[in-house]
Amino acid sequence: MSIRYIATTPFSDQKPGTSGLRKKVRVFQQPHYLENFVQCIFDTLPKPAKKDILIIGGDGRYYNQQAIQIILKMAIANGFRHILIGQHGLISTPAMSAQIRKYRALCGIILSASHNPGGPEADFGIKFNMGNGGPAPEALTDAVYDATRAIQEYRLFESDDIDLDSLGEIQLAETRIEIIDTVTDYADFMQHLFDFDAIRALFKSGLFHMLFDAMHAVTGPYAKEILLRRLGAPTDTLLNAVPKEDFGGGHPDPNLLHAHELVERLFGANAPDFGAASDGDGDRNMILGRHIFVTPSDSLAVMAANIHHLPGYSSGLSGVARSMPTSQAVDKVAESLGVECYETPTGWKFFGNLLDARKITLCGEESFGNGSDHIREKDGLWAVLFWLNLIALRQQPVLEIMREHWRRFGRHYYSRHDYEEVDSTAAESLMAHLRRQLGGLSGRSFGDYRLKACDDFCYTDPVDNSISEHQGLRFMFEDGSRIVFRLSGTGTAGATLRVYLERYEADPEKHGLETQQTLAPLIQIAEELAQIQQFTGRDRPSVIT
Ligand code: G1P
Ligand code: ZN
Repeated sequence: MSIRYIATTPFSDQKPGTSGLRKKVRVFQQPHYLENFVQCIFDTLPKPAKKDILIIGGDGRYYNQQAIQIILKMAIANGFRHILIGQHGLISTPAMSAQIRKYRALCGIILSASHNPGGPEADFGIKFNMGNGGPAPEALTDAVYDATRAIQEYRLFESDDIDLDSLGEIQLAETRIEIIDTVTDYADFMQHLFDFDAIRALFKSGLFHMLFDAMHAVTGPYAKEILLRRLGAPTDTLLNAVPKEDFGGGHPDPNLLHAHELVERLFGANAPDFGAASDGDGDRNMILGRHIFVTPSDSLAVMAANIHHLPGYSSGLSGVARSMPTSQAVDKVAESLGVECYETPTGWKFFGNLLDARKITLCGEESFGNGSDHIREKDGLWAVLFWLNLIALRQQPVLEIMREHWRRFGRHYYSRHDYEEVDSTAAESLMAHLRRQLGGLSGRSFGDYRLKACDDFCYTDPVDNSISEHQGLRFMFEDGSRIVFRLSGTGTAGATLRVYLERYEADPEKHGLETQQTLAPLIQIAEELAQIQQFTGRDRPSVIT
């Protein structure tokens, strides 16, 4: 057994985005492609000391197992002496964050393309998290990118593949490899944050029915352990709980379009009381009640208003944060609690500094992501348990919890319209066209809506004062309504234009309206401002959430 030094040539297209590197499986399978990127990660990290731990795991998609074997052999050749791997090669993104923090690991490598489809013709991805459990900061991903343009050689330890299925230890040369049970660890952690007795009693009553859709992705085993084994929910609570390499042919994104089976059950006859889903790598969540969809923005606001009731959060909130396009529902709660509400650019990484500096306890994004200071990633099952705990404590259906919340704080009607796989040049021209108008629009009226201000969102991090410019175009109206335009940073084909629409309604008599109808005037203003149809050739969005 020895280390091989393999000559390679740089790839120029390997710029990792906010969520690591995402490409088609076929791209990753090209000779040296994955290896190049992984070597560049190792070259950029501090040289591992003997005690430094590396953790590896993925969401179970096609190529997960092969990639893990390659990364393991490269890690050994690059000097790691202690490596932990999730059993069957699986670790959800939130569980990885928790494990890094628990073991004080140097780094965690996650194989996932999140909510993108899996399979030989679909997507694969790789991202790495650092010692605080959060995604690598931009300075580090930029350094990895620079390395990919100069790489000449990578290192591989020659050995057979190892067994990823049996828990236990393996010694390869000087390296100790442990196959670990991240499911038990994660379940123990959740049990410490939430009132499992109260939730168990809720299921035991026989009067409460829930459905959880794991979408054939990584949360299946975690949900089985927590919901069925520890909380006593009946077996038919779980849908699609067996992880599959192609996610059963589906798109593992928990939203109204891709989790439609679950949505139909919750809006159908004999609907269960509660429904939830999570995505490919388990960090996103969708919350539904009988005949109601809770927008992620509202979910964040409800969490903020109730968090002090939960065992893991009895000291309440230090502050909250939301991404800029997320609705202002949580701002109302923060205001009434007298805590700070931070508005950050899109992307979980912007919450990291605020969490580490203890400026916030809770944070979330409109894109089905919520989380807290317990880890440094968003956390799908955590959000589901939060809601279960809340329902158990309040003994109220989801619809009632939402109505009460809106009565107290007002309702923010909210929707996101996505135009996917638009021609990139057309999308850039649309944004440029909008940007040119910013200066001259203030004070202008569009029907009943008078524009108060508009800008290109720029964020100064309150902890390290770093500046992030051009984070989306905001149009803010006098009644509190907003329209936000931005281009996605995570797509793998063409460009995706996202239009975020929001309208505030204080009057409880008007809290039962249909969302798209209520937003119709703003949808029209968005078209008027951006000329979406003219630029993109599309007369309607591809996805509405
Ligand atoms: C999307 C979401 C964003 C989220 C990211 C990673 O990014 O909008 O909130 O943090 O996925 O899950 P986008 O494609 O909009 O850049
Ligand atoms: Zn995800």
